[in-house]
This record gives sequence, C-alpha cells and structure tokens, in this order.
Amino acid sequence: MRGMPLSPEHPLLLRIVDDLATHGWSQQDIFLPASLTLALAAECRTRAAEGELAPAAVGRGATQEVREGIRGDHIQWLEPGQAESCDQYLELMDGLREALNRGLFLGLEDFECHFALYPPGAFYRKHLDRFRDDDRRTVSAVIYLNAEDWTPDDGGQLRMSLKGGEEHDVQPIGGCLVVFLSGDIPHEVLPARRERLSVTGWFRRRGNEPF
Ligand code: OGA
Ligand code: MN
Repeated sequence: MRGMPLSPEHPLLLRIVDDLATHGWSQQDIFLPASLTLALAAECRTRAAEGELAPAAVGRGATQEVREGIRGDHIQWLEPGQAESCDQYLELMDGLREALNRGLFLGLEDFECHFALYPPGAFYRKHLDRFRDDDRRTVSAVIYLNAEDWTPDDGGQLRMSLKGGEEHDVQPIGGCLVVFLSGDIPHEVLPARRERLSVTGWFRRRGNEPF
C-alpha cells in the first residue's frame, strides 16, 4: 500500500497554519484516519513488548540524563523504512512541513519524532521544547494513539500555558493532533493513570553552527 501524501493546500493543513499564525498553537481532534492511529498504536506496543523503548532523557549531548522526577516516558525514535504505518505518518508530516513553510516562511528543514509510552503514574513536568544550546526545534507536533474511551479521570492531559496566563488541556485521545511553537508555549503532561501512547515530534530549522 502506498502512503497518503497530503497536499500542502489541504484545508486541514491550512487551518493548522492559520491557528499557529494567530495563536501559536492548534488542536485538530480528527487528524489521523482511525486505521492509521490503530496501526501506529500497535507498532508502538510491539516495540515496547520487544524492549525497544528506553527511558527518555532530559537535555542533550553530554548533559543528557534520565530523570524520572522530570519525565517518566519511554521512547523510540522513528526512522523511515521501518514500518508502513510510520512511513505514512512521516509522509503526512512532510505535507504539514511544506504547508508551514509556504504559509509562515519558517524554513523548516526536517521532522524528527519518537514514539512515547507513559506507564501508569508517569508525567512530564512543565518545560519548553527548546534546548538552551540548540534552537533548531521550531514547531512541535504530537499525535495521540489512545482509545476513544479515555476520560478526564484517566489523567495524562497535555496542559499548555498560553499567553495571558490561560491554560488549555488536551485529552490524549487517538487521532488528535496538537501543534505549537516550540519556543513559545510551556507545557506539561499530567500524570496518566493508564498507559498513554503518542508520537511526539519537532520540525527543525537549519542550524547556524559553523560547518
Ligand atoms: C514532549 C511533550 C507532550 C505530550 O515529549 O516534549 O511535551 O502530550 N509531550 O505527549
Ligand atoms: Mn514538550
């Protein structure tokens, strides 16, 4: 089966671009087809069962360390050519990258993303998706892979701190996509009471380090 490229002119993508331009974030409750959400969830669970997911670290390079008091998720990076479902998702995100570049002139060069599994009790404390020594991460994109019957009591909400002191919570229900400006929106993942699955990724600009 071939992937499903989304034209950068697709109304869904244009809506995300428009939301980012006006608010700095966008939530699309019905972004992925249910079949792709299920396939990605199955792929994530298989990798977890095979021991391929590892405790996520905080920081980068030499200063990376696992700190469960800050984040308790387990992750594995997606690479092209590993699984049909992952390739389809990467292709959709490439359409979004193109739409963001056309609409907002962001010059986004690539997209990196990982599966994330939060075991019951895990959380991720409030943070910005930008490293002090590397500002290439420009737009964050999270797709949720959980069952439709996720309720507010299950926890695991993404809580974004918006301008003006408002907060916005997202229930991590399968198929929902959240996109936000990585350097502008502090956010956290509240403790999940059920296993919580997602693919979390970042559109990056070219680095300005010397070559
Ligand atoms: C992250 C993150 C949010 C979420 O991995 O940096 O903030 O809802 N994830 O999973
Ligand atoms: Mn984050």
